[in-house]
Amino acid sequence: MTGPVPARIESELRDVFELLPGPAGAAGLLSLLTSTVDARLLDTAGPQLRIVANYGVGVDNVDLAAARERGVLVANTPDVLTETTAELAIALTLALLRRVAEGDRLIRAHMPWQFGLEFMLGESLRGKRFGIVGSGRIGAATARLAEALGATPVLVGRSGDLQELLTTADVVSLHCPLTPETRHLIDAAALAQMKRTAVLVNTARGPIVDERALVAALRAGAIGGAALDVYEHEPDVTEELLAFENVVLTPHLGSATRDTREEMGLLAVHALREVLLEGRSPANTVA
Ligand code: DGY
Repeated sequence: MTGPVPARIESELRDVFELLPGPAGAAGLLSLLTSTVDARLLDTAGPQLRIVANYGVGVDNVDLAAARERGVLVANTPDVLTETTAELAIALTLALLRRVAEGDRLIRAHMPWQFGLEFMLGESLRGKRFGIVGSGRIGAATARLAEALGATPVLVGRSGDLQELLTTADVVSLHCPLTPETRHLIDAAALAQMKRTAVLVNTARGPIVDERALVAALRAGAIGGAALDVYEHEPDVTEELLAFENVVLTPHLGSATRDTREEMGLLAVHALREVLLEGRSPANTVA
């Protein structure tokens, strides 16, 4: 394990495997997305290493080519976190559009306030064009939830028309993996194409957004706001973002429910068992 896991998952592991204090000599590695699994770590583990089970659906922390070269299989934890992550994307969107976090801050700061017909007006999601960048499982689940709330979802996959989405959407929600192609996909040029009232929501991976460009766009009023769960230099958050009232920030909570984290862990343990005890490739093999 490259970090602590829920007690139930650790006990599932202990039932069938010997847990080593470090990677050296391990046949399997249970990696957290905060650990970089690169050639160095794979070599530290040694040639007996057969599987890296990543405790997450995103595998941008794993050098897949280095694993492939060493004959190490890489598995992830898809499906079980799909709805949970989609829920957070919608929660962040609503928090931003309906000024939930801003209202909470106002009350906690003991600011004087009173109900008023024009006080803290926000925007409804109903009737909005909800742009989804990334047409995988989480993007599709987010689209379903957005539609249930009266928005019109528009999905763009790898070969879709991103420019059309950026110029027409009221919400731009990111759901693509982090790859060399998607790093800084949302840069100054992309932000400049968004409607001045549109909001950006990122529950995918931080480096998909150029945070400096985002700060500049927010400062210039070029977009309506942003809601971020992930950060370019996570866990560091660009300081300037903290000053904007029209920015909602959460600390990488996409899959953070007790049930989902356990299901993810069980899936990872299952992959380790399949490879190490049953000599089979798990269905959730990514490389
Ligand atoms: C993942 O699994 O990739 C998520 O980011 C975890 O919250």
